[in-house]
Amino acid sequence: MKNGLTLFLGVFATLALSWAGVLLTAQRQFGGLAQYKDPADESLNPAALSGIADQGRMVYQDLGCVSCHTQQVRREGFGADIGRGWGTRQSVARDYLREKTVLIGQARLGPDLRNAAARPYADAEYFYNLLYAPQSVAPGTNMPSYDFLFDVRPASDQPSPHALRLTGRFAPAPGTQIVPSRRADELVAYLLSLKDTYDYPEARPFVEPKQKEGGH
Ligand code: HEC
Repeated sequence: MKNGLTLFLGVFATLALSWAGVLLTAQRQFGGLAQYKDPADESLNPAALSGIADQGRMVYQDLGCVSCHTQQVRREGFGADIGRGWGTRQSVARDYLREKTVLIGQARLGPDLRNAAARPYADAEYFYNLLYAPQSVAPGTNMPSYDFLFDVRPASDQPSPHALRLTGRFAPAPGTQIVPSRRADELVAYLLSLKDTYDYPEARPFVEPKQKEGGH
């Protein structure tokens, strides 16, 4: 095989060039992406994650929430995400600037969480209850319980103002209280940050320019 080296170099160059092409195109498109300065109030968007929310991002990653939840709202015409109430607009690259690891995910056993905190019912209490006892807020759900993120303490201790206020069959055993651990607080801070409601120019739906009358 006297052309072996030429063949090898040819295949190598083809693969190397296409790899570099993919990388450089993405870098050109997104590498210089920065926060968007609102022309009216000069706020920078997306705002940086608070320290505790950033730690919560790591808890989310650590616990594998990404195996059931995506974080990307697809635009109209590419899925029913907006119709399902998972967001009011498509997700754009700039939304993810504040996150060191982007947890887009690919399986949707549960709802998309990119705008979890924008839902009208979603406050900190809802998220704590969901993590401790998913059935208490969503009966019949497949979402697993993350009750190990909570401490069961004797109620005779100083009653915690953060103790969960669950009733019925989810109520703590008599004489005990259920208090979120530091990791639960971090995770809930992260969930509360999931709210892509800022309207970037690039997130607006593309509208076909009107044909000029008589134009060709
Ligand atoms: C086995 C799959 C699975 C895993 C793993 C999982 N979830 Fe879920 N999750 C679900 C399902 C299913 C629902 C829908 C609940 C319902 O029926 O309303 C849900 C609902 C939610 C909701 C409420 C969304 C809404 O629209 O109100 C949040 C928030 C949430 N999960 C966060 C998490 C977090 C944080 C983790 C990781 C600690 C996690 N989930 C892990 C399946 C999962």
